[in-house]
Amino acid sequence: MTDTAPTYSGPQRILSGMQPTGGLHLGNYLGALVNWVALQERGAACFYCVVDLHAITMPHNPAELPDAVRKAAAAYIASGVDPEKSAVFAQSSVTAHAELAWIFQCVARLGWLERMTQFKDKAGKDKERASVGLFTYPVLQAADILVYKATHVPVGEDQKQHLELSRDIAARFMRDFDCDGFFPLPEPVIQGAGTRIMSLKDGLKKMSKSDPSDLSRINLSDDADTIARKIKKAKTDPAALPDNVEALADRPEAANLVGIYAALAGSSKEQVIAEFAGQGFGAFKPKLAELAVERLAPVANEYARLINDPAEIDRVLAKGAERARTVAGPVIAEVKDVVGFWR
Ligand code: TYM
Repeated sequence: MTDTAPTYSGPQRILSGMQPTGGLHLGNYLGALVNWVALQERGAACFYCVVDLHAITMPHNPAELPDAVRKAAAAYIASGVDPEKSAVFAQSSVTAHAELAWIFQCVARLGWLERMTQFKDKAGKDKERASVGLFTYPVLQAADILVYKATHVPVGEDQKQHLELSRDIAARFMRDFDCDGFFPLPEPVIQGAGTRIMSLKDGLKKMSKSDPSDLSRINLSDDADTIARKIKKAKTDPAALPDNVEALADRPEAANLVGIYAALAGSSKEQVIAEFAGQGFGAFKPKLAELAVERLAPVANEYARLINDPAEIDRVLAKGAERARTVAGPVIAEVKDVVGFWR
């Protein structure tokens, strides 16, 4: 782009999404959902989808997918996403995502995708057997964002590389088709003390739904007793909490619990350290459990109420999809004109 190229001047829009497989956990909540809710309250149009197209990049059970989508949507709403303010929908019900993904597959370069660390992690040693969809996963993610011309994308730290790719794809599209200012360069919103929550059993591993040990994570569906028990059993070290954050650098489990406390309290690691310096985990863990239960038990209760009313969730998803289509439809039509499709 030249210095005089027009930059994007459209409205602020927010988009994000989560995979429906395996239930949501504390990492999803603190890394993303808390920020989804905060952005929703600022009044920009928000689009929060359940990414079922992404879910089929790995082996899945078709009989379980629709309920998994409902459960993810219920977790969004239980966490504070308000379907009156934000569009909550299944990605597959807005076909423009898949259409734009194809066009972006012809814009993105093979070399860009080969650098994606999440593909390497998920494909494992035998990448020849991975689905092509798993390889092009981040291209579909770029389409999810840009089909709404979204300007801001609230995610956890692990999505930074995918967001950079989305910006590269948008920029390359505008250069290839000589249409500066057509797309925004979407900004990642990675903020707060919980952008990278680690396993409760191993402070060097990300908290994840694929971890075989349920004790490694707090699920958004866990009741108060389960939350408290998991925190009690969380791995720690024998030392007391230090009086400065730097001293947590080589204590991954301690750093993680301090980060979780800070994120749940809406404060910073520095503030938590100032409050608990010199105290051992025997004192800190019960306080953390109390705070976690106070914050998360209402989410679990609301989640339990919602999943007992699947018809209500289906109404939300249908209405959200309708609202999403009214924005995505004109964008995909414009894109088709830009690339020269017959119509
Ligand atoms: P998924 O389902 O793997 O993760 C959903 C969101 O949760 C965040 N997250 C975490 N944050 C902090 N600590 C953790 N341990 C942790 N684990 C997960 C992720 O960063 C993410 O924000 N590819 C996306 C889904 C997606 C998407 C999109 C996101 C598809 N299209 C468009 C934004 C925009 C993903 O990782 O989902």
